[in-house]
Amino acid sequence: MTAKLRAGVIGCGSMARHHVAGYLASGRYELAALADLDEAAMAEIDREFGVSPVHYRDPAEMLDRERLDVVSVCVWHTGHARWTIAAAARRPRAILCEKPMAETLGRAEEMLVACRRNQVKLAIGHQRRFLPAYTLARDLIARGAVGPVQLMVAFGGQGLPNYSSHLTDMFRYLLSDDDCRWVMGNVERKTDRHERTTRIEDGAVAVFEFARGARALILADVTPIMFQGAHVYGSEGMIELQTQGLRLLNRETGGTWQEHRPDGRFFPVTPLGEAFEWREGGAAQADELADWVLGKVETHRGQAEHGYRALEMIHAVYESARCHEKVALPLQTRVNPLDLMVESGHLAPQRPGRYDIRAFLLRGEQTWWSEEAPGAGERGAAGPDAARPDVTGPDAGPAGPGG
Ligand SMILES: NC(=O)c1ccc[n+]([C@@H]2O[C@H](COP(=O)([O-])OP(=O)(O)OC[C@H]3O[C@@H](n4cnc5c(N)ncnc54)[C@H](O)[C@@H]3O)[C@@H](O)[C@H]2O)c1
Repeated sequence: MTAKLRAGVIGCGSMARHHVAGYLASGRYELAALADLDEAAMAEIDREFGVSPVHYRDPAEMLDRERLDVVSVCVWHTGHARWTIAAAARRPRAILCEKPMAETLGRAEEMLVACRRNQVKLAIGHQRRFLPAYTLARDLIARGAVGPVQLMVAFGGQGLPNYSSHLTDMFRYLLSDDDCRWVMGNVERKTDRHERTTRIEDGAVAVFEFARGARALILADVTPIMFQGAHVYGSEGMIELQTQGLRLLNRETGGTWQEHRPDGRFFPVTPLGEAFEWREGGAAQADELADWVLGKVETHRGQAEHGYRALEMIHAVYESARCHEKVALPLQTRVNPLDLMVESGHLAPQRPGRYDIRAFLLRGEQTWWSEEAPGAGERGAAGPDAARPDVTGPDAGPAGPGG
């Protein structure tokens, strides 16, 4: 029997649980170690999963001591590049870093380079690529069940990098990883809104065109609708995709909607409901990672080049708003264009006062502007003088399905 892969996790909050659950459900990993600034966060994972990994308050110490095969990076976005690059330097066999890949394309590129340099495989956690409904939709489109795709429409919110990077990744997955050719979009940002210390817009609209001619549209926080999935319109049929299933309408279905709710390889879709996407997505993502590490497959569906493209499409929306133009990809701007717009005064908030829609994730005495806030020191923008956030507004509340 093959020995289990030794996994370690950096950042033990809400998303780390899905990584741990995935590693354990796949049966191919032992959870060797956890690292978090907060001991209670690690203790909660031990209790929840009945495991006893070694705990570290300093992720660098964990990386130095544990000889890990696989490292999960589950801190906030601004820590993704820092900890992926630190992990790569210790040469585990693979790193699974959460989305969005990084806070800028430049940092995402550094992650790719560090992993290539150290021969470490890198995947980004767009776990919906592993949902059977997503793969069924991709296969239906690939075999022409709806004809050439004319338009895909998706509804996001809570920040383009946060929620809609899953949507841009989904568009590419549904099109068998066709590349985006150009992006045109606009953002509204009247308030000083942030998400996990990343500056975000109040609302956005974006259009994308892909190399083989398909187009896609994201409406983010401009309607009350928000879900992971899409309406796909082809010249000969339509698909309505959601995380737990899809509906297909074409000539073969007699012009009526046909429901599909495919089970996963690890879990049945019923009765898990909303939990299905996390359980199945996490387990299948971890399982394919083990295959990739062991050389059983050439590629991983979530390998970092896809995470990079998903982020590039998001930052191209900001770049289009900044330059008032249709932006051709590959995007050459490597800083965050939204930051540029705000910091240059081009898009100054008209209702000042920073707030963070994920402030409720912080622990103990941490506040999102404090020195200890995850990522605060790295971005350098969240100083103690920042105005008090209003976290009691409509954005406050448990993390939605997008993250
Ligand atoms: N793939 C998805 O669908 C999905 C869903 C939710 C979150 N996410 C992503 O996961 C990431 C984490 O989000 P979350 O909701 O789990 O946040 P969280 O606040 O619940 O957890 C983050 C953890 O990191 C710890 N931490 C912060 N800085 C650290 C450091 N320097 N060293 C060690 N530990 C540190 C914190 O103490 C905290 O326990 C984000 O980038 C988010 O976008 C992805």
